[in-house]
Amino acid sequence: MRRAIFPGSFDPLTNGHLDIIKRSSPLFDEIVIAVLNNADKHPMFSVGERCLMISEVLPSVETGNCKMIVDSFSGLTADFARDSGATAIIRGIRAVSDYEYELRMALMNRRLEPAIETVFLMAGEEYSYVSSTLMKEVFELGGRVEGLIPDLVEGKMRAKLGK
Ligand code: PNS
Repeated sequence: MRRAIFPGSFDPLTNGHLDIIKRSSPLFDEIVIAVLNNADKHPMFSVGERCLMISEVLPSVETGNCKMIVDSFSGLTADFARDSGATAIIRGIRAVSDYEYELRMALMNRRLEPAIETVFLMAGEEYSYVSSTLMKEVFELGGRVEGLIPDLVEGKMRAKLGK
């Protein structure tokens, strides 16, 4: 049984995240999409809303025989991965600018849990500039984000901001 976690803030879920989920599904039997419950931040969506959104969108993603689980966690990703029985942490790399931060996290997570490998997947080039932060900013300022976030997520952003 090859189980991985795909940790992130997912505030909100983007098509870039879905691309990574789709690409990683043939590599594992089970993937836990792990939504960080970060009390320090002021997210647009609560952890519960983010988990629900992901669960609602997932059936539209081709994940073959890979079982997908949505869960939330607080504290260290390495602890959550170990406690979940995962052997890998999935992270997406969009551009060279992601590399330094991701390298530091991967090395720290490896120091914390040497048996767990970080697996990097390259996001599709059409999503190389897509981040949750940019999507929120553009949407809040009235810009178009179709094709970059799932329609369901766009609807929830619209409802949240009263647009
Ligand atoms: O989607 P994001 O915001 O890029 O995800 C970042 C995330 C959640 C993977 C990272 O912030 C994280 O792992 N946070 C949990 C706390 C932790 O383990 N910190 C040490 C990382 S080496």
